[in-house]
Amino acid sequence: MKHIPCTFLIIVVLLHSLNLDAQTKNKDEIYRPKIHFSPKEKWINDPNGLVYYKGVYHLFFQHHPGSSVWGPMHWGHATSNDLVQWKHEPIALFPDSIGTIFSGSAVVDMNNTSGFGMNGRVPLVAIYTQHDESGEKAGRNNFQNQSLAYSLDNGKSWKKYSGNPVLKNPGIRDFRDPKVMWHGSSKKWIMSLAAADRIIFYSSPDLKKWTKESEFGESAGAHGGVWECPDLFSLQYNGKHVWVLIVNINPGGPNKGSATQYFLGDFDGKRFSPNSTNTKWLDYGPDEYAGITWENTGKRKIFLGWMSNWLYANVVPTETWRNAMTIPRDLKLVKVGNEMFIASEPVKEIAKIKSTPVVVSNISLSKAFDLSTKTGKVKLPCLLNLALENSNDFSITISNDKGEELQIGYDKMNNQYFIDRTRSGKTDFQNEFAARHTAPRFAAGSKMNLVLLIDVSSVELFADDGLTVMTEIFFPNQPYNRIYIQSSNAAFIKSLEYYTLGK
Ligand code: FRU
Repeated sequence: MKHIPCTFLIIVVLLHSLNLDAQTKNKDEIYRPKIHFSPKEKWINDPNGLVYYKGVYHLFFQHHPGSSVWGPMHWGHATSNDLVQWKHEPIALFPDSIGTIFSGSAVVDMNNTSGFGMNGRVPLVAIYTQHDESGEKAGRNNFQNQSLAYSLDNGKSWKKYSGNPVLKNPGIRDFRDPKVMWHGSSKKWIMSLAAADRIIFYSSPDLKKWTKESEFGESAGAHGGVWECPDLFSLQYNGKHVWVLIVNINPGGPNKGSATQYFLGDFDGKRFSPNSTNTKWLDYGPDEYAGITWENTGKRKIFLGWMSNWLYANVVPTETWRNAMTIPRDLKLVKVGNEMFIASEPVKEIAKIKSTPVVVSNISLSKAFDLSTKTGKVKLPCLLNLALENSNDFSITISNDKGEELQIGYDKMNNQYFIDRTRSGKTDFQNEFAARHTAPRFAAGSKMNLVLLIDVSSVELFADDGLTVMTEIFFPNQPYNRIYIQSSNAAFIKSLEYYTLGK
């Protein structure tokens, strides 16, 4: 055999691996959401440090820049002027000698209570958990502590506080995810912190010295897993403040794995008093987690969740990038009878990327209705608005030419919405992924409205003006390009609007 020069072989091997990389990348790109935030590359989980300042929405997030599976956490960063188009920014916070950078929040310290401000520049202050892996491995209990970093250039660059950590662990293994807000009537910062099976509230005049005020939740709500990522804020109802405490939980969600529960009640600057200790879920689907709201948006409260579930987040079938965020959602309070709920809807800014709609009225579902007869081949992402007259069983099937499909619908007998992804495409990467998930209908009356936001690998259902919400991800082997709607007992669609979504 002729002698093959070594450099030639190296080049061949290199080209081959580049080609493989390109193939993986292309394969992954078919699942990259088009209207949801996803990382340029590698792993993401929880949204962090959501803060609005000077016309810019900041989104920090749990990020492992070295791999597509969870690992030493950093705060990645993205910004947006409209919550719809996101710009990738450099990593904001890197691990240091105190630990890696776990979840937390950010505030605008308008009055410079922290003293970080200089020459009239308003500090943005990030409050986050530092996770000391070596302490955890050594079997200690105090490996999670709370630290600060600040920015004097409107969130572009961050400096860590030299006095970190500012809130030391009293010996609780799960002691993390500080969400801080300014409490106007007591003129103090309030931190909600997840501590295993409860939330601990702390107060501070300056974000540096923290005093424990109270605990909530040991015997309230769902306890099928550890409590994480809380958020405390108020929403207006008929001109009155109602306090909301969001508590994420993993596992123990209504459809297995991780999920977001909330409580409504009162907060007096020290103590949270719930109206009821029953659990309510902000999103019943399996794929909204660690959801929290933006700071500094006035009366408007905008919520964002991580669009995955700890059951399978590390093994979903993408490799170059992994996981995304939900669509940002506006929260409001709604009463059904005497009971109050949070309702969510996609932020109104979505209107910017909506096409002119195809509108179809009075569709009788005595036989299946194929949307493409009105729209031509269905294109994702899209938004569907449906108004139904009689709340009978129906299902909306989104499918591809391979016969893979996702079903979304309503089951009248059980008064439940459902999303079934058992035949949605790739499902075998984890044994609980292929499942049918359900959510109760809370709205009364037979008129029903649905908003469906369908991206290339996710669907978000907002039923009854957002009283029941479900988020699900899916991975078809070929893009979905068909939508048809059917009913086993002749449901009737008063009107349907179909919008394609694009930038
Ligand atoms: C929630 C969570 C947080 C933690 C972070 C670590 O998904 O487990 O409690 O701070 O993720 O990445």
